[in-house]
Amino acid sequence: MKRCDTKAQLGVMVQQTRAVGKKVGFVPTMGALHPGHASLIERASNECDFVVVSVFVNPTQFDNAQDFATYPIALERDIDVAQAAGAHAVFTPKVVELYGGDLAVEPVNYGRLTSTFEGKMRKGHFDGVVAVVRKLFQAVQADAAYFGEKDLQQLAVIRRLAADEFEGLEIVGCPLIREEDGLAMSSRNVRMSDDDRQTALHLSGWLKSIRADASAGIEVGKLLDKVRLEAAAVEGLELEYVDAVNGHTFEPQQVTGNGNGVFAIIAADVGGIRLIDNCRLACS
Ligand code: PAJ
Repeated sequence: MKRCDTKAQLGVMVQQTRAVGKKVGFVPTMGALHPGHASLIERASNECDFVVVSVFVNPTQFDNAQDFATYPIALERDIDVAQAAGAHAVFTPKVVELYGGDLAVEPVNYGRLTSTFEGKMRKGHFDGVVAVVRKLFQAVQADAAYFGEKDLQQLAVIRRLAADEFEGLEIVGCPLIREEDGLAMSSRNVRMSDDDRQTALHLSGWLKSIRADASAGIEVGKLLDKVRLEAAAVEGLELEYVDAVNGHTFEPQQVTGNGNGVFAIIAADVGGIRLIDNCRLACS
């Protein structure tokens, strides 16, 4: 597997690969890779001939300086994980390589996609995500890019970016991977104490019961209200939102049915760590 940290090196490698008709897949990450990331790389390596993984902790998407300062870094391990999952190249640019000296980013307005939920709670977050993903897409020139449904709203924002600016680039959404106990895998989980981890399990637990009860025909609005009430009584957990939305538009949508793409979404702070989770609601 190759490692490169300049756009020029990467560009040469990708051009040579495309020139012989190979399909290039791209998996952008911020590192501290776990099995959730690995699942994206494996999917890309099953569907593409050459897979590039980027590892770059993007400073412009952090709305919280402490979160950025303590973001876990494990580059040597990441390279092993990426290789084991089937990557052919790892792109590890420095900040200056992508941004030059200027960290100012353009505001992005994709309507509800950037103004609600994560866009509302984390001011400027999607401006930074779009800025870096645009730079990475330009650098990698892939045929397909792989993103996790873990960050459902980010996936919807990226689909819009690609539709507007990267014609022909396929965006592939991949399933959310959980720990055995149900906790959504996240690079930030390593920062949680054992007690906080137990508290964090409420999120996936609530989503699971919303899904089950919605399938049994109980009104989704009532289920969301019930979770809001329960959450208010959990010590050490600050619920930011719980809702049901269309996973592509982020319009509120509480009527579920087979194949209509409704997701329950939740975000909460547990012991100073912000957690997000979601699950698809299906009912017969
Ligand atoms: P990061 O949080 O490292 O995630 C990289 C990719 O892995 C994203 O597409 C994310 O949705 C996916 N991912 C993370 N945890 C997952 C899980 N438990 N199951 C499935 N997929 C999971 O998302 C980012 O980085 C950044 O915003 C980035 C797109 C790289 C731009 O900086």
